[in-house]
Amino acid sequence: MEADEVLTTTRAVRRRLDPARPVPLDLIRECVDVALQAPAGSNLPRTRFVVVRDPVLRTGLADLYTEVYEGTYRDSEGYIGRVATDDAGAARTQERSARSADALANALHEVDTIVLVCLEGARLDGLSAMASASLLGGVLPATWSFMLAARARGLGTCWTTMHLAREREAADLLGIPYERVQQVCLTPVAFTVGERFGRARRPSVDDVLHLDGWDAGLPSVPDVRGLAAR
Ligand SMILES: Cc1cc2nc3c(=O)[nH]c(=O)nc-3n(C[C@H](O)[C@H](O)[C@H](O)COP(=O)(O)O)c2cc1C
Repeated sequence: MEADEVLTTTRAVRRRLDPARPVPLDLIRECVDVALQAPAGSNLPRTRFVVVRDPVLRTGLADLYTEVYEGTYRDSEGYIGRVATDDAGAARTQERSARSADALANALHEVDTIVLVCLEGARLDGLSAMASASLLGGVLPATWSFMLAARARGLGTCWTTMHLAREREAADLLGIPYERVQQVCLTPVAFTVGERFGRARRPSVDDVLHLDGWDAGLPSVPDVRGLAAR
């Protein structure tokens, strides 16, 4: 695949994760190897990939995810299916995304690999904007690179943060030292059912490109303070 194809067709895969095809650990290692080429602040790679294959641990993580999703998120203002838009096409896309998100709780219990991406050597609690942006910025590019590398190998992923509401329990489950390791992203990894994925509906370039300063006339998104905290 050309770079642009990988970049524009790496979707949040939830309903097309194939639980029947085990993922070879070597393929995960290749994706991690690619991901390690991503930039990191101070050239100090702090990204750690916790690959969870043990059925008991996987179920424990999936249970934490589902409990937050069903117990808190689904009824919250921030629920993906409740994000309002006047555009009928966008509303349909949002509705599809909501059904897909609803399906992930189930899918997470079925896949044989879950990857938890962590930031080592820091917790973000209470840090300045500069420190937290720099530390997160050292981990998120590698996380996305891992997903792009997975896509290029026929594997699907789905970036999630839901379980972070129960982060400490996930840390205890996996023996992660909570005081100095921040979990950042949890993703299933599985071969996809079919390999064709399309571009997603997104804002146009003109909607997001501010030229020579902030253009208050461009569309904005709901202020996060207006949405219930997850
Ligand atoms: C920071 C972040 C957190 C996310 N958290 C979740 C999550 O907890 N659960 C979930 O099902 N999807 C989650 N997503 C996936 C988004 O819903 C998905 O990327 C978005 O709907 C676009 O999907 P598409 O690229 O397939 O169109 C998250 C994505 C990002 C970038």
